[in-house]
Amino acid sequence: MAFQLNSVVQWGRNIDEYREMFLLSDDDMKMNIAGFGDGPASFNYQATLAGSKVTSFDPIYQFTREQLEQRIEEVRTIVMEQMAENIDHYVWDRITSLEQLESIRMSAMRLFWDEYMQGKKDQRYIYHELPDRLPCPDNCFDIGLSSHFLLMYTALGYDFHVASISEILRV
Ligand SMILES: C[S@@+](CC[C@H](N)C(=O)[O-])C[C@H]1O[C@@H](n2cnc3c(N)ncnc32)[C@H](O)[C@@H]1O
Repeated sequence: MAFQLNSVVQWGRNIDEYREMFLLSDDDMKMNIAGFGDGPASFNYQATLAGSKVTSFDPIYQFTREQLEQRIEEVRTIVMEQMAENIDHYVWDRITSLEQLESIRMSAMRLFWDEYMQGKKDQRYIYHELPDRLPCPDNCFDIGLSSHFLLMYTALGYDFHVASISEILRV
């Protein structure tokens, strides 16, 4: 079935959040990195600016900048309402308020879409949907990341996850 832009929440994180989540050291950042389901995160762009080599894969990279911006604006309200409803279920020591969270996320996504077309031209953003075969030979990356995609959507099921993780491990 064709990927629908409204089937998954588009919400992007920045390089500091990625580095902290995945404990990426300065040496790790010199390796050839792949991000699966990177969506509108600014990790790729910020890492590229700092001299790293990152390739991001996501089905949303088939869409135009205008389509992505519009979807992010729709998602913004939904996510912020859900965050407000569930505020007590999160730890607020790094990010200390809903307003700060929204501002950090929107800044990351603006960075992403401002250079999205250039990233596509440079083949840093590649349209790909897991668990399909990735357009790369075996072992072509040193590190593979998946932030807030794999293991988050239980509806995708066990077989989807096994097939996706197997394909990620191949590359
Ligand atoms: C919540 S966003 C996370 C974005 C980014 N990784 C971050 O943490 O900021 C989830 C991403 O998974 C992507 N996604 C959904 N289905 C996918 C699939 N079958 N293969 C790869 N990515 C997929 C979505 O398009 C979306 O960009």
